Formats: sequence, structure tokens, C-alpha cells
Amino acid sequence: MSDPTRTARRTVLAAGAATLAGGALAACGGDSEPKPVSEPGSAAAPSAAASAPAGAVKALAKATEVPVGGGKVLKDEKLVITQPTAGEYRCFSAVCTHSGCLVNKVADGTIDCPCHDSKFKDTDGAVTKGPATHSLTEKKITVAADGNISLA
Ligand code: FES
Repeated sequence: MSDPTRTARRTVLAAGAATLAGGALAACGGDSEPKPVSEPGSAAAPSAAASAPAGAVKALAKATEVPVGGGKVLKDEKLVITQPTAGEYRCFSAVCTHSGCLVNKVADGTIDCPCHDSKFKDTDGAVTKGPATHSLTEKKITVAADGNISLA
């Protein structure tokens, strides 16, 4: 035999818990702040080449997509490719070494993080403005004759 008052209380408690959980989820997904991300190549971040068939090298970008004096941020791959001078391409992790946000811009010789305004040199990833204290990790790339840029 069940007590109807007790059953009703359980239902109310369960509904309250569901409301709290939903509120917490909404709070996590509702902000527009850039979020820290995991480092490329970590278990939580599949590598860019992981989806390519065995033996095939997946192009990250075309050389023509990377402006001289600028760069291209590859959000999915968590990489940034720069071209400091004509024909000189560099690639770095796009994960800021301060708190893990993705960098979002390459301009005026720096790779910039939107979270706390750290800046890194587009030539070697070195910190030019904190709060970050460590360089961006450089990745080896190749530029094929057809202009495809791939991880080496
Ligand atoms: S996470 Fe990039 S400056 Fe703080």
C-alpha cells in the first residue's frame, strides 16, 4: 500500500531536481564567453589528420587562404597558420597557454587571444603580451606544390 502524500512529495522533489539540473545546464551553455579548450592531440581533441584515411594527408588549408602578414585560425583543428612574410608559413596550437581559450585573430604581427588579451608572435609563437607566460606550441607543416598546407 502506498501513501498518496508521500508519493506526491516524491514527485515534487523529482520535478524540483529536474528544474535545478536544467537551470544548471542552461547556465553552462548560455554564455557567450570564449571557453577554454583542450590542447590539439590530447585525448579530448581528435587530431586534424585523424579522420583522413590511412596513408592520406588531410590538408588543413590552402596557402591562398592565409594572408601575408596575417593568418587563419582553424577552430576545429585548434590550430593557427600564419604567413609572416610572403611564402613563409608557420603553424601553432591555437590553444592559448594562459587559460586555454582559442586564439581568434592574427594581425599586426601577433596571434591574439580574446579572453585576456595575450598576444603571441606570428613568427615563433612567443609571448609578446601577457598574461600568458608560455609560447604557443609550434607544429610542423608542409606546403605542397598545389598549395595545400598539411601537418608534417
Ligand atoms: S586564455 Fe588567453 S589570455 Fe587568458
